[in-house]
Amino acid sequence: MIELRPLLPNDLPLVAGWLREQHVARWWLSGTTAAAELEKIKARVAQPSGDATHLLMVVERGGSELEIGAPGGWCQWYPYDAYPAEAKAIGARPGDCGIDYAIGDPTATGRGLGKALIAVLVGEVRRHHPGCGVIVDPNAKNVASRWVLERNGFTLISVQAVVTEPTDEPVAIYRLSAPDCTA
Ligand SMILES: CC(C)(COP(=O)(O)OP(=O)(O)OC[C@H]1O[C@@H](n2cnc3c(N)ncnc32)[C@H](O)[C@@H]1OP(=O)(O)O)[C@@H](O)C(=O)NCCC(=O)NCCS
Repeated sequence: MIELRPLLPNDLPLVAGWLREQHVARWWLSGTTAAAELEKIKARVAQPSGDATHLLMVVERGGSELEIGAPGGWCQWYPYDAYPAEAKAIGARPGDCGIDYAIGDPTATGRGLGKALIAVLVGEVRRHHPGCGVIVDPNAKNVASRWVLERNGFTLISVQAVVTEPTDEPVAIYRLSAPDCTA
């Protein structure tokens, strides 16, 4: 069972370590560096109310109510309306939100956490923006990320380069519509 909690300043060393893990760096740092990415995260954590991107830690809860495991990753969500250039480039509709995520601990990958995380994160986003569409654009070659999105009902919209992304590599743009919406 996955829980999300705000990412706090004392989580930064853990996140810095995860950013350097090969399985994260390969996809999360295309066209940027761990240091640059960490600075962005630091600035957001220092002033959470000054930024439209919400950072969260991923914690796995054990079988018992009291058994709370160590954080296994982090994630973020944002309303695309706060980032008009990115929204236009990716084809977001008004009200759509975006998510990004990583299971940072390599020993925690491949056992269903990512799939569960997407479901919990979508729930968190929709708690703030009920019924919103959710967009994700993993690198087209990121099979694991695409798989967890597809397993959570996301629909592939297109595979293309996106001008606001830090690299020219094609991304796979996925969108999850509101549960009762076919548009
Ligand atoms: C992408 C990521 C979140 C997936 O999480 P995970 O916990 O490793 O994946 P899961 O164990 O939940 O796997 C879910 C499904 O994907 C499949 N899958 C996972 N990795 C796969 C791979 N490399 N190739 C094919 N299928 C894969 C699993 O078999 C599983 O399928 P199933 O539901 O039929 O059993 C995780 O690997 C990660 O954080 N990677 C690094 C950062 C990253 O890529 N972030 C996303 C940027 S957009």
